[in-house]
Amino acid sequence: MIVAIDGPAGSGKGTVTKIIAEKMNLQYIDTGAMYRCVALKMLEEKVSLEEKEKIKQILDNIEIDLKGTAVFLNGKEVTKEIRSVEVSNFSSPVSTISFVREKMVELQRALANGKNIIMEGRDIGTVVFPNADVKIYLDATSEERAKRRVEQNEKNGLESNYNQILKDIIERDNRDMNREISPLRKADDAILVDTTSLSIDKVVEKISDIIYNQI
Ligand code: DC
Repeated sequence: MIVAIDGPAGSGKGTVTKIIAEKMNLQYIDTGAMYRCVALKMLEEKVSLEEKEKIKQILDNIEIDLKGTAVFLNGKEVTKEIRSVEVSNFSSPVSTISFVREKMVELQRALANGKNIIMEGRDIGTVVFPNADVKIYLDATSEERAKRRVEQNEKNGLESNYNQILKDIIERDNRDMNREISPLRKADDAILVDTTSLSIDKVVEKISDIIYNQI
């Protein structure tokens, strides 16, 4: 069984998908982490967005392992590193490169092979698995998503500026939604869940009900 969860950053996708994976015994696959690995490798090797041949070389040799929520890049754990602000910002333009997307989609399809999975991303229901058994699109207003990010930063002892975060979120959404290949959008047959005024528990309950009703 394949459950596809798409939506913008801060929609609650990550948190909720992890909980449902555990609850329903589905393998959790975070595709954003895969684009982040490519961005991290490019930063480490000082490869720019214009250096197509070097990026192709990186992709030819890349090995990404997702073990639950832990992420390994060419054998080294990078779970924390891929969440840095630098990697977050760079992964967005990296994910607009067509051959990067082709390679990631190929890896994502291979990961799912014959398993019961829940995969979260931006193009899972539209491109990676257009025939997924369940498709959900999570959304929330940009203001609510910025507020959540500020709260998350506070919890982690990081300083943050609400207005800057809101600006970054709007910028990233624009880029993700307007890129030429596989833009972030709700698949026609995906179920929209607006999480703006819902608690995490409530979202988990809603999505679990949708999954149970569709299988
Ligand atoms: O979900 P995230 O913030 O970890 O994703 C990191 C970047 O990767 C983000 O800019 C969008 C992009 N991405 C994508 O283009 N397609 C996916 N399936 C997942 C993420």
